[in-house]
Amino acid sequence: MSDAIMYEKIGDIAVLAANNPPVNALGLAVRQGLIDGIERAEKDGAKAVLIYGEGRTFFAGADIREFGKPPAEPFLPDVCTRIEASPLIVVSALHGTALGGGLEIALGSHYRIAVPKARMGLPEVLIGIMPGAGGTQRLPRLIGIDKSLDVITSGRQVGAQEALEMGIIDKIAEGTPREIGLAYAQELIDAAAPRRATSEMPNPAPVDFDALYDAVLKKARGQLAPAVAVRGVQASSELPFAEGMKRERELFMELMATDQREGLIHAFFSERAVGKLPELDGVAPRDLNAIGVIGGGTMGAGIATSALLSGLKVTLLEMNDKAAEAARGRIAGNLQGALKRGKISAAQFTDLTETALNVATDYAALADADLVIEAVFEDMGVKKDVFTKLDAVCKPGAVLASNTSYLDVNEIAACTSRPGDVIGLHFFSPAHVMKLLEIVVADKTALDVVATGFALGKKMSKVSVRAGVCDGFIGNRILSKYRTCADYMILDGASPYQIDAALEKFGFAMGPYAVADLAGLDIGWAVRKRKRAEGMDPRARDFTYADKLCEDGNFGQKTGKGYYDYAAGAKARVPNPEVLPLIEADRATQGITPRAFTDEEILRRYMASMVNEAARVVGEGIAKRPLDVDVTLLYGYGFPRYRGGPMKWADMQGLPALLADIKSWAKDDPYFWEPAPLLEQLVAEGRNFDDLNKDAS
Ligand code: COA
Repeated sequence: MSDAIMYEKIGDIAVLAANNPPVNALGLAVRQGLIDGIERAEKDGAKAVLIYGEGRTFFAGADIREFGKPPAEPFLPDVCTRIEASPLIVVSALHGTALGGGLEIALGSHYRIAVPKARMGLPEVLIGIMPGAGGTQRLPRLIGIDKSLDVITSGRQVGAQEALEMGIIDKIAEGTPREIGLAYAQELIDAAAPRRATSEMPNPAPVDFDALYDAVLKKARGQLAPAVAVRGVQASSELPFAEGMKRERELFMELMATDQREGLIHAFFSERAVGKLPELDGVAPRDLNAIGVIGGGTMGAGIATSALLSGLKVTLLEMNDKAAEAARGRIAGNLQGALKRGKISAAQFTDLTETALNVATDYAALADADLVIEAVFEDMGVKKDVFTKLDAVCKPGAVLASNTSYLDVNEIAACTSRPGDVIGLHFFSPAHVMKLLEIVVADKTALDVVATGFALGKKMSKVSVRAGVCDGFIGNRILSKYRTCADYMILDGASPYQIDAALEKFGFAMGPYAVADLAGLDIGWAVRKRKRAEGMDPRARDFTYADKLCEDGNFGQKTGKGYYDYAAGAKARVPNPEVLPLIEADRATQGITPRAFTDEEILRRYMASMVNEAARVVGEGIAKRPLDVDVTLLYGYGFPRYRGGPMKWADMQGLPALLADIKSWAKDDPYFWEPAPLLEQLVAEGRNFDDLNKDAS
């Protein structure tokens, strides 16, 4: 017998305890162990079998690492069927997270009990597949079609209490899974409870599956798995169990073969890999209890909110009492939102706003802070002034962080007497909502300061990515390039609306011009003015239509008009009729004859500019691995998760074709389309970005 499932007989009960840390994933050894365990129990004179997980959880699902490799027997559906077919009573006792194949094992059991904190679900659609071991056939027989569709198409985790009410489990009890499982199995034996196979329950009543399929497909914005899962559930209603299982398998295999599955699994592992840096192995972070935030605007207040919600004490520094009180109001407003959504209680709200938060106007109030984040105006002079003052008041060992989104952190660090303590912590707005945190490591930043940045990110439930110093770090540097690409396509004949539509069709939540309207067109205007003042490269193209839009007072959503007109609300945007004439005038002045773009060409150019710049960012070591770029774009820039990120997308498209496109466009604009050396090198070597991820792991 394999060690992954430990066997023991206690009285009339055969106990199968899973022992496959960290999450008891259902790899080959576990599957074989379950089959062996059931067979042994049947020969061992047992009356019941208990299945539970040692460690932190019941089975958290199939072993995702086996996906994409040739499957090895016994397959998971057969394991579930074998468990269910046993003449003995089989009980599963759930704790931790019984997910995917884990819940399917429980559904194949005859009775289910859980600890109060257990969570369960069928999250397969989140990794681009659907339940493939009977989940779409057994769950609807157990709890009906509507509830099953909710659980399966959302992939959400259901708490034990809700699961009990839905009928997924039979009982909740306090104790360890072993204790409650043994007690329940004994109770069932004593009551001579019958063996109860879910597959033998009647077919659930049908609903309008075609309408549901369409609705689910639309809601998923291009992601296929949730809609395909509807077809699986449909089979539970229309087919006998064994045929339903076949249908489920076919649909499952279809999804398994998609790029979407590959993209989503890449995203799953990449977001876990970003925080794992070899240089931080064994490096302890510094103490982190009280932090300071300088500046109480939208960004500072968002950072303070996030810190308060993660249990940190916060001192927020503003210029004067009025600004300090306004900042307090902003933070209280943010926390009010958390209260409304049930994330905190009324008592916690009072504690956070009245005890954990302190607003101040004197730098001396930051003397005890373990870490200070400055979120003041984006200007080198202003930042240097702040850091000089911090250097004077902060205790030795305090981490001094800048929330700059593009300024040189080395230069900021150099104005202090302790550059080793200085780091960039780039949050995304609104900082209490957006999950991304770029941790910008300057030349002299100490390793334990980097570790402290990651510890802060973890405490705040952010996804933290290490970045090096350059204009815009990872995300904004790449953004600036693909935005420019879009702007050039407008000059050459595309419209902002066609570009937005093409990219929204690709899966972005919003196209770049809708995003610009949301962020405020004044931001880009200021950047263009700065770049012109600094002196633009004569080979770079320039344009005026966007400036004219701003000169007329159109800053986007906040003024009611930008590229779009928002008179009927943000969602009911319509093109602003003033925009196209401005663009046409610009083209005329520059002597450009507009040409038509297909959606395909728009996408190809936009993505190629993104990937080419990302390859430079990796080549220069600003991002350590391609996966760091992918996670940055997924969490900070609305990149569709089911495409895995730009680097994964590029790998799946094939790098040689992408490079060939770039080279062909370079004939017209060699400055913008100069191929990144890393891209050329990978193509020459017949390798791709994922190979670099593997080299680094
Ligand atoms: N297969 C293989 N490895 C898995 C896994 C799975 N199904 N689920 C988690 N892991 C690994 C993680 O990669 C991580 O490995 P690492 O420590 O080498 O990075 C480790 O288990 C711990 O997972 P992590 O997510 O960091 O822990 P957590 O406590 O925050 O979350 C889960 C635990 C189970 C909730 C979460 O990992 C999860 O949602 N897993 C996917 C579950 C799933 O989709 N199952 C259906 C598959 S059919």
